[in-house]
Amino acid sequence: MLKTGFIACYMLLFACHKCYGAGLCNRRPLGTKTEPLPPDDRFKIDILGINDDMYIPRRQYTVRLYATDDISTFIAFTISAREDTRYNEKNPRKPILLDAGAIKVSADAPSVPSPICKNSVIQSDITPKKSVEALWIAPPKDNQCVTIYAVLAVKQDVWYNFDGPLSKRVCEDRRNMEDMQPVENDNCQACEDARYLLTFDGVWSYNTHPGMFPKTQEIARFSDVVGASHSENFNVYKFNSEASAGLKMLAEQGNTTKLEMEILSELGASVRTVIKASGRPKPSMATTASFRVTREHHRVSLVTAILPSPDWFLGVSNMELCDAVTGTWAPNLTLNLYPLDAGTDSGVTFEASNDDTMPPQPISSAPINKEIPKEQIKPFAKLKFELTRTYPTMLCSAEASSETAVKGEDDQGSREIVQPTTPAPVEVSIAIDPESSPDCPMTEWEDWLPCEGECIDNKLEGFQSRFRYHLVDGVAVGKYIENGPSYADKQVSRYCLENYEDSEIQACEDTCDEEEDVNS
Ligand SMILES: *[C@@H]1O[C@H](CO)[C@@H](O)[C@H](O)[C@H]1NC(C)=O
Ligand SMILES: *[C@@H]1O[C@H](CO)[C@@H](O)[C@H](O)[C@H]1NC(C)=O
Repeated sequence: MLKTGFIACYMLLFACHKCYGAGLCNRRPLGTKTEPLPPDDRFKIDILGINDDMYIPRRQYTVRLYATDDISTFIAFTISAREDTRYNEKNPRKPILLDAGAIKVSADAPSVPSPICKNSVIQSDITPKKSVEALWIAPPKDNQCVTIYAVLAVKQDVWYNFDGPLSKRVCEDRRNMEDMQPVENDNCQACEDARYLLTFDGVWSYNTHPGMFPKTQEIARFSDVVGASHSENFNVYKFNSEASAGLKMLAEQGNTTKLEMEILSELGASVRTVIKASGRPKPSMATTASFRVTREHHRVSLVTAILPSPDWFLGVSNMELCDAVTGTWAPNLTLNLYPLDAGTDSGVTFEASNDDTMPPQPISSAPINKEIPKEQIKPFAKLKFELTRTYPTMLCSAEASSETAVKGEDDQGSREIVQPTTPAPVEVSIAIDPESSPDCPMTEWEDWLPCEGECIDNKLEGFQSRFRYHLVDGVAVGKYIENGPSYADKQVSRYCLENYEDSEIQACEDTCDEEEDVNS
């Protein structure tokens, strides 16, 4: 008996080595030759932490094989992962094997890697068990679905194959974080202004987007990227609403002029910075721009045309930079862009001739290739927003003082005296602006900040600002001085705030070095 078992095992080993490369592996437990039991619900395989049968690429999961009645036991098992295949255009008879990730031994399970089959773990002893675990490290992105399955033997020659509840198929979760805009925050509390560096990266190509690329490959490109940082009262566009005349012109012709004018007309009101970023006109265009946001202007919208195309464009509308949870500036955000349809031209191919849609339709997803399911469409570009610096404003000091006032009231009951641990304030000599009134003394104006704007042909036309501060008891309220006197308890009178400006803005021109084209 023992001897035939050994021989069977050897034959199995041999058979497995032969079929290894083809991705098939006979996983009959303990080399049995009997037929498996029909599938039932006695044993089950689960992947812990999986929602909606979707896995996150590269994440580690625990796979659990167990008796559902908590009584039944098994002596031997194999846990394994099977990859999907993809149609091979070059050789239809030999499908391309995708990646199933890696099945690994879990630290405290009585298991070992299978000596004969790849990417599998088996029992390390044949004592009866009610459950075992293994680890599964999900494959990288773009490997579609993976089937995690088990075979098990209740005893020698009595076994279940990987049917029914012993098999679990899970697919990549493509609802990537980077496909989702941050939650909008209607109550931005950031007291500082902030500067962001925007990076646009075109990731559209014939190879990565089969069926979604113009036949006239060499002229495929994106237009300049145009947009603004703005308040809640402004939109460059809105999904499901009609495009403006400026967006129509951009989406249909790639001409940004009219849209820029629409945005410029709001500058100083609902728009804080007009953004324009140019790069080499290619589908892999890479370009950067920097812009400023404030508590009021805490959102950003951007668009770029897909060329050639009827009226397709990429864009983001109302991207929130003031984090809804922390209430302040988000440090780093990334967003994937997918093609949109401006609803102004009825063409259905990239090269379609002009065909005005009458009446215009609301902005929607671009129906570039209806045969490609929506969840399989890859992003055409990626946007990255990096917080590069912040600028304290008057709002910060005003809040600091109101906060202390509130705190004082709350503390009435149980008073506890806490000695300040900050170092003694250093002496700061402050020059008083001779032009300010004795009723509302102010510091002298600080220097103008550098001219901000877009650098074109080494010339910059934009705006710059400068600040001065109200003085209360000789303290410059709102001016941050390291280890300087605290202005938290100094209140500037309403009269002074209303009658004496503490900031000025003016148009400016400067020379500048155009940033090297990132895309070479
Ligand atoms: C864009 O349109 C404006 C008029 O709206 C025109 O003056 C300009 O030449 C156009 N730009 C290009 C590059 O065609
Ligand atoms: C933001 O991302 C960049 C690169 O992607 C990184 O160098 C930087 O440290 C990040 N900043 C923060 C605040 O996370």
